[in-house]
Formats: sequence, C-alpha cells, structure tokens
Amino acid sequence: MLQIAEHGHRDTGDDLAQLLSLSSRPWLLRRAGFSKDPRRLQINETLMTIGNGYLNIRGSLEELPEGSCRGMYINGVYDRSEADVEELVKCPVWTDVSVWIDGLKISPATCRVLRHEQVLDMKKGILHRVSRLRTPSGKILTLSTVKLVCFHAVHHGYMRVSVLAENFSGNIRVLSGLNGDVFNRGFFEGERLKHLHLERIERGRNLMYLEMKTRERQIHIAHAASWRMLEGQSRNVRWEPRIYGEKFTSEMTLSAEKGSLSEFEKFAVVMTSREVKKECMFSESVRELKWFLRKGAFQEIQEHISQWDECWKQADITIEGDCEAQEAIRYNIYQLLINGPRTVGSVGAKFLSSEGYLGHVFWDTEIFVFPFYLYNFPSMARNMLLYRYETLPGALLNAERAGYRGARYGWETATTGEDVTPRFASKLERTIRLIYTGVEEEHIVSDVIYALERYVRVTGDMDFLRQCGLEMIFLTARYWASRVWKEGDGYEIHTVIGPDEFHEHVNNNAYTNFLVRWHLRLAAIVFRHFSRTGDKGFMRVCRNLDLKSTEVSRWSEISRSLKFGIDPDTFLIEQFDGYFSLSDHGVRRHDRKGRPVLPAGITYRTIGKTRLIKQADVLMLFLLFPHSFSSEVKQANYDFYEPRTLHKSSLSHSAHAMVGLDIGDHQHAYRYFMKTVRVDLDNLHGNTDLGIHAAAVGGAWQTVVMGFGGLTLKSDRIVLNPWLPGSWRRLVFRVQWRERIIELDISHEQTLIRIVASREMIVPCTFRNRCFRIRSNIRYVLRDRPLSCSIGED
Ligand code: BGC
Repeated sequence: MLQIAEHGHRDTGDDLAQLLSLSSRPWLLRRAGFSKDPRRLQINETLMTIGNGYLNIRGSLEELPEGSCRGMYINGVYDRSEADVEELVKCPVWTDVSVWIDGLKISPATCRVLRHEQVLDMKKGILHRVSRLRTPSGKILTLSTVKLVCFHAVHHGYMRVSVLAENFSGNIRVLSGLNGDVFNRGFFEGERLKHLHLERIERGRNLMYLEMKTRERQIHIAHAASWRMLEGQSRNVRWEPRIYGEKFTSEMTLSAEKGSLSEFEKFAVVMTSREVKKECMFSESVRELKWFLRKGAFQEIQEHISQWDECWKQADITIEGDCEAQEAIRYNIYQLLINGPRTVGSVGAKFLSSEGYLGHVFWDTEIFVFPFYLYNFPSMARNMLLYRYETLPGALLNAERAGYRGARYGWETATTGEDVTPRFASKLERTIRLIYTGVEEEHIVSDVIYALERYVRVTGDMDFLRQCGLEMIFLTARYWASRVWKEGDGYEIHTVIGPDEFHEHVNNNAYTNFLVRWHLRLAAIVFRHFSRTGDKGFMRVCRNLDLKSTEVSRWSEISRSLKFGIDPDTFLIEQFDGYFSLSDHGVRRHDRKGRPVLPAGITYRTIGKTRLIKQADVLMLFLLFPHSFSSEVKQANYDFYEPRTLHKSSLSHSAHAMVGLDIGDHQHAYRYFMKTVRVDLDNLHGNTDLGIHAAAVGGAWQTVVMGFGGLTLKSDRIVLNPWLPGSWRRLVFRVQWRERIIELDISHEQTLIRIVASREMIVPCTFRNRCFRIRSNIRYVLRDRPLSCSIGED
C-alpha cells in the first residue's frame, strides 16, 4: 500500500480560517439559491470558474447534481479522436465530493434547501459554497466547501469540506476521489466524445493516483491527491478505497454526533506529459504531492494569496460611483487573471471555462484579449505570440493547402496551427449550414501581426522581434503577396469574409484590405531597417526564407495599390465591393434584453443580401488605428454602420463603445460598455452556460482604459483623452509601458498622471490635443478648461 508523509506544517485552525475568510463585499461574486434547471446550473458553473491559466475548473457543486456540466481544462491539451476537429479536452477533476446519509446523496437537488450559496472571492481566487439542507427524513446538515487552484504553484489545488450534523447523530459517508469518467459534450447535440484512456490507478490510505492519456495525441494527464479528515477528527471513521472503472473513490464513514462538525481536506497535484516525461509521471506527481503536504495548506495558501495580491496591484481598476460597472470590471479582470498563459500558449474564445467553440483560438485573442496582457503582464502576451510563432509550421501548411505561398494563420486553431474550423455551423448559431470562415476569414493573418507590432512597440522587446517576429512578419507578408489579385493597375483580395460574418465570399473587405496594406508596409519597413543594420539574426532569417529585396519591393507596391477607399463626399468606407447596392433595412426592434431583432421577412439565410451586419467591421479599423482616420470619417461611418448592426457577436459591443467614445457618442457608448462588461454576469447572450465570452471580457478592459480612460500610445507619445460617465466620480488604473508604469487617476475635474520608472526620463504627452513633456516619478495634474487645459505638478 502506498504511504504518504504527514503534514509538515502545524498551523492552527484559526490561521487557516483567517486566510480562507471572505474578502470585503466589492471583491465577492455571490450566487444564492438553487435551481434544477440545467442551464442555470451551468451558467453558475461557468461564472464560478477558478484557475490559474495552466488549468481551470468550472465552479460545479461538488456532488454534481443532475444537469451539471463539470469540467477541468488544461491550456493546450487538445485531442481529436472521433471528433470532426481537435477540441479542448475535458480532463478528469479532483474536486468531486459527495456526502451520503441513509443512502441518499446530499444535494440541494435531493433535499429541502434552507440556504444555498456560492461565493467567489475574486481577491483571493477562492470559491466558497455553503448549503444548509434538510433531508426528506428531517435531518438538517450544513455542507460547506472551499476550493482553490494555486496561483503561484500552478499544478497544486486545495479543498476543504465540512459537514455539520445539526439535529441528528448517525452515520455519514463522505466520498471523494479522482474521476476519469469524463466526456466532452461534442459539437453536435448529444454527441459525448471520449478523449481519454485509463493508464494507471494507484491507491493508498493517504494517496490516490489517476493517470489518463488522450487517445490521439497521447498526452498523459496525472492526478495525485490526498483526501483526509482534519487532524484530531479521525476518531470513529471507517475508510474504504473503491475503484469503479475509471473512477477512484476514497470513502469515509463516520458516526457523527448531533451538533458535531466533521472536516476534510484534499491536496491535489495535476501534471501532464507536456511538462514531465511520460515515464516519470507517477514519481514526479507523487513527489510534488508529498512536498505540498509537507509544506502544508497554510503556507501554500498564503503564497497563493500574495500572488493574487501582486496581480491585483498591477491590474485592478477602480471605478467610483458606479457599483454595477465596478463589480463587473473586476469580474472581467478576474477572468483575465485566471486565463493568462503561464508558458507558451494562447487563450481560446471561451477561455478555459468550457468546451464552447471547442476551446479554439480565434482573432478574439490578438485583437480583444491580448492588450490586457500586453499592458499588465507582458510576459504572458509574449507567451501568446510564441504560440503563433511555434505554430508557424501549421500556418505554412494552411497556405500550401490553399495553393499559396508563405504562412496563413488558421481562423480557428488548436495544437498545430493548422486550421481546425468545423465544416458545419456551430450549435451556438442554431442553424446547420456550411461554414466558410475557415477558408475565407483571413484577416486573422494580419490580426496576429498587428498584435506582434503592438507588443514590440509597447515592450521594446527587440529580441523577440529578431528571434521570432521577423519570420512571422515575412512569412505572412509572403502569403498576402501570393494571395492578392492584380486588377488593372491595382491589387484586390477576392472571396473573403470580414469580421461581419453575414456576408460571405465578398471582394475587398475594407477591414481586411486596410490591414493587409498596413501589414505589407510594416514588413517592408522592418526589412529595410534590418538590412541597414546588417543584423546577423535577420540575415539568417532572410537566408532561410530565401527572401530578397525584390520580393520586398513588391510588398511595398501591393501595399500602395491594394484597393481601399474613402468616399470624398460622404466620408464612407464601403464594407466590401457592392455592399452599398444591397437592400437596406435598419434595426427597428429590440427584445426584452435590448438585443436587436431581425427585421420581418429576413432570415439568417437571406441576410447576406441586405446591409445588415453581424458585428463591427469597418468600425474595427478606427479601434485598431485610431490616429489614421479623421473625426469626420469616424463619425460618418459610425452613423452609417451602427444602425445596421445586429450585434450577434459579443465582440461587437466593445468596438461600438470605444468608437462611440472616440467620436463623442457618450450615452450610447456607456450602454454598449455595460453590455460588454456584463455579458456573462447577466447572461446577455443567453449562452454563458457554454463559457465566458473572452473577447467581450478583453474588450471591456480596453473600453475602460482606452475608451473612458482615453489612453492611447502614438509612437513614443502618450495620448490622453478621457471622458467619464456622469455617475463615475473617479477612474483609477495603471498600465505598463516598456520599463515604465503609467498611473492614471481620472475625475471630472482633473487627470492625475505619473510615470513610474527606475530611471529619470522625459516622455512626450498629449492631453486634449495639447502637447507637452512630463518627467518620470512626478505626479502631474492635467485640468480641463473649456478651451484649454492647464498642466501642473502635484
Ligand atoms: C464572431 C467572430 C468570433 C467568434 C468567436 C463569432 O460569432 O463572429 O468574430 O471570432 O464568434 O468568438
């Protein structure tokens, strides 16, 4: 029988209780009451997800009442097996616990609920649950759990369970184990896909071990855990291990006295063969578990909380005067914090909160989510770009399969970078039809390069540019050069889908073409810059890619003459060729949740023949290139496209909020912001059960910082144009920029700015179109006056 050492740390219960105690109200997300409706159960499970970006666990009730959809997901663990395309694997979970009395599994679903609540403590990354229940035979008990996934030691998890027998004495069975009996829900209704094989189960009084292996990619996933009663409470306990196929359960039967509290704890370690050699999975995870046990819960949780404190110190945003907005932005930041990739890896469209969108990576990542990491945790932004670098071989294959040169990032990607977009419409859209996005939604190629350029600009990480970025920029530029079509004196791009997916097979989508022009110009500038320096890394890349200046000259030529136009009279940018001749229908009706309703007679099959659009398309350009368009152009296009947008994607609202703020449509902008920032908290798209809307979360952060905060960077200049809604008294945040931190404290009367840097520096800044220079480590007060602004040191 396997044995494991006793705890090293002898903490007093009070110390630990103090660490686990709830933070103050603004840091808590509470969900009270219980519903048997699977949808509502699953919405809670999504919202209450805990994690650390390596692995995240849905906030399911531990006994898994019928209808719940538990899940643990590990960043980068995808598998295909019988599925149509690769998907994020639902991994075994270590958090299942069930309490049995008189043969009944105790749950709000089987007992009368006297009180039931889950509380997510976002400050500490801890999920609490308390259920006071009465069994059908009148026994009253309170079941409480506390669980966390360590933030500083990503393989570790801890959970504490307590059972209070309020009005009875008698036997209670408490079971907890490791459950490998898990299925993905699949793409189509009722599919249930099995991605895991059982490799090994081991059990001992203090140890349980489960190792599973993904069926196609052969990734081993090991769980080692220890489940025990708290010290001093183990009298009158009968222990029995049980194995049910792929499930391992450690069962304790105790005879509880009326009024007694029985407490259990579980230490868990999760590892995969991506970090540890296959042959060493058992020894490594058990060694890690022993170390964790010796260290003890107290010290581990203390470190966990201080890591959370550090992250909040950098990333928190204060909004004074608007509780709803404050609660929601904090929740959004919490989500971003638990999803930042700790090693090379990206972020899926639903984060690691479910199998929605099969865990795939879309443009959502680079355009919506990436800026948060870039401005707060640049090493995570780098990990996301490294994912794109390491998946270049897949991107090369995508291009080759389509008959082009260079590298083409796939619209949806997973392990290799090869496109894994399903061929049929997702059930999210409730209509079965062929999907063309994988073939045609090519703007992603330049979206990735856009994020790369921002990264280098904001961090100054030239090593990354040299070692990885150059190849990414050149290979993707080469793709576009082979993809464009010569038409008369100019170039065009035919048969694409822009961000607005209602219109397929269109020519010259404005968003795509503008981005490609920018991309090819960037590639040429970078090439020339490095040619002048004679950089060795650059020469090596050029040799490997057989890249010559003649090829680069063509990129410049294409960039100059690729079709893109602004009507000089109306200032309008046509979304794609022929868009203005489509039938015109404005959005006239909204449903109860304020969502636009399709005009009568229009269906998703015919919508492509109208000017109605799914989400921001042309307007996305103003977001990405705020300094490249005049205010007349922004205004005209906003006025034109906004009333024709159905916002059928959650990506749309933040774009409208930010462009609205830029052009001064403040009231609408605030409404759009609230729709973004509360999309999951209020289930505004009706599908939060299927996961968090990552792009909306990232977009909400951008709206606060770049929209309301009005912060943009123009070359090496800070540009500030804040605007606060009437009810916001103060907006406070900080961002990282190169080796500096920009601190902003904005109110209606003034903006306080300080650049914190370890060395003296002077930074150009523009506030309300007025330019000046500020010194590091001094707080400046910028004041709005009707016609000017006054600037003074604090
Ligand atoms: C949107 C895309 C988005 C995808 C994943 C679609 O509905 O139209 O822009 O990338 O969802 O979030």
